[in-house]
Amino acid sequence: MENQNANTVLQLITTEDGSQTILNSELGSTYHSRHGALTESKHVFIEKGLQNLLDGRTTDINLLEMGFGSGLNALLTATIAEQTKYRINYHALELFPVPPEVWSKYLLPEELVSCVASFQSMHAAKWNAPFKLNNWFELVKHQVSLIDFSSDTQFDLVYFDAFEPEKQPELWTQAVFDKLFEMMNPGAILTTYCCKGYVRRNMIAAGFVVQKVAGPPGKREMIVAHRPL
Ligand SMILES: C[S@@+](CC[C@H](N)C(=O)[O-])C[C@H]1O[C@@H](n2cnc3c(N)ncnc32)[C@H](O)[C@@H]1O
Repeated sequence: MENQNANTVLQLITTEDGSQTILNSELGSTYHSRHGALTESKHVFIEKGLQNLLDGRTTDINLLEMGFGSGLNALLTATIAEQTKYRINYHALELFPVPPEVWSKYLLPEELVSCVASFQSMHAAKWNAPFKLNNWFELVKHQVSLIDFSSDTQFDLVYFDAFEPEKQPELWTQAVFDKLFEMMNPGAILTTYCCKGYVRRNMIAAGFVVQKVAGPPGKREMIVAHRPL
């Protein structure tokens, strides 16, 4: 995938639940589902990932997101951190940052409009440096490909939000899941909207325990994977 973001290939579109997402018109892919960006983000990453992990947990959370994109997953996560008083260290990977002329026009869904200042400050934050949003949420945006990323942090939760495997096959391989498995703590969770058979098989070959669970609107199933204890 080449970086075309600087050109005019990124457009804001409205999805079926009324929330916006970004369309990469060159790739023909959206950053979240056309059936509802907010609904998908909440279902796949917050409910099946973060809230699943928080049940009974007592310690801080190290979270890795593959693909910062519009920042919607990050913003929702920051709101949960503040509500629940769990400290979340959020590391987001992004090879092709969304330019200010796009993110500054992104209209937040009604329930997040009070978070507009947080949203803008997360986007405006420097790349490759820690940015403390508040006592509960610290963000590091890494401008790097997942393929080249390495870290001393061991993660408790991974939001695997790459573009679909047909568009980015190099990111859904066993080698990538081997690498993520090694970066995750025992008991850690990886969630993704995708449920393709070969993706599940690549995760299983990497050592994950893989569950198919009900997906968001427009997707019958999605994957929740665990690194076993
Ligand atoms: C499906 S979108 C992610 C949506 C995002 N999570 C959000 O909340 O809007 C996929 C993202 O991955 C980024 N990306 C593509 N290839 C990448 C790579 N090799 N490493 C890191 N990020 C990549 C894209 O630029 C895009 O922002």
